[in-house]
Amino acid sequence: MPESAPVIQIKQLSYRVNETPILDRVSLEVRKGEIFAVLGLSGTGKTTLLRLISGLIRPDSGSIIVEGQDITRMTEADLNTVRRSVGFVFQYGALFDSLTVRENVGFWLYEHTMLPEDEIRARVAERLQQVGLPGLEERMPAELSGGMAKRVGIARALVGNPQVLLYDEPTSGLDPVIAANIDELICRLRDTLGVTEVLVSHDIGSVMAMADRVALLYEGHLRLVGTPETFRQSADPVVRQFLEGRTDGPIQVV
Ligand SMILES: Nc1ncnc2c1ncn2[C@@H]1O[C@H](COP(=O)(O)OP(=O)(O)OP(=O)(O)O)[C@@H](O)[C@H]1O
Ligand SMILES: [Mg+2]
Repeated sequence: MPESAPVIQIKQLSYRVNETPILDRVSLEVRKGEIFAVLGLSGTGKTTLLRLISGLIRPDSGSIIVEGQDITRMTEADLNTVRRSVGFVFQYGALFDSLTVRENVGFWLYEHTMLPEDEIRARVAERLQQVGLPGLEERMPAELSGGMAKRVGIARALVGNPQVLLYDEPTSGLDPVIAANIDELICRLRDTLGVTEVLVSHDIGSVMAMADRVALLYEGHLRLVGTPETFRQSADPVVRQFLEGRTDGPIQVV
């Protein structure tokens, strides 16, 4: 079977913070409809990579081509269009506490479109249905459990009909059952909507079970990119130490 076309092409991407290279000439392709997981130690630049792909921040050099368009060379106005086709599910939900679920999920539509209220309400209702929370429109974020808030964050990321969904640690802080539930939702959205999904996670077990391909980010480089099976069979001591969560090995633990 031919491999599907890349939806995201990252070429020679570099990003520095205060002269410290976080990403150093990283190249990567994410294919249409795949679930692509990024693993890495805390502070290695996983969130930074997602923020770059979504156009929230700009790289020092290199290119990020999303559906054929290089977002690193775009104006802010054009980037707003890209941000609709790339949905970002933030690590802590990042819901606005003073807005209802409906206003949170519909935020982008209220801010950036002239759609009539009943059309926005219909789209919000459809998205809430898709994440398993029908009818919760008038709740306030404080009235949601952690898992529900995460689902609302996913509904909000879906509202612009994105082709790509980026998840930053979608199950961190959730109990194992709710976490498995969110993992199922992530797989179902790919299967039913055909979206391409990139997720950052520390949950190696779930990544190995659900991702089509995995990348390990280490010291500014992609140490290994491949299927879960490639990771399981890797003899690279860095990969092995990371997967096995050992303190002894080449990875310096401070
Ligand atoms: N705006 C910023 N200002 C200063 N430092 C930053 C900024 N953004 C990122 N960094 C630094 O860049 C590095 C990578 O951060 P990033 O949040 O991408 O890591 P991460 O892999 O997502 O970590 P974690 O697993 O803890 O979420 C860290 O050392 C962080 O301190
Ligand atoms: Mg992070």
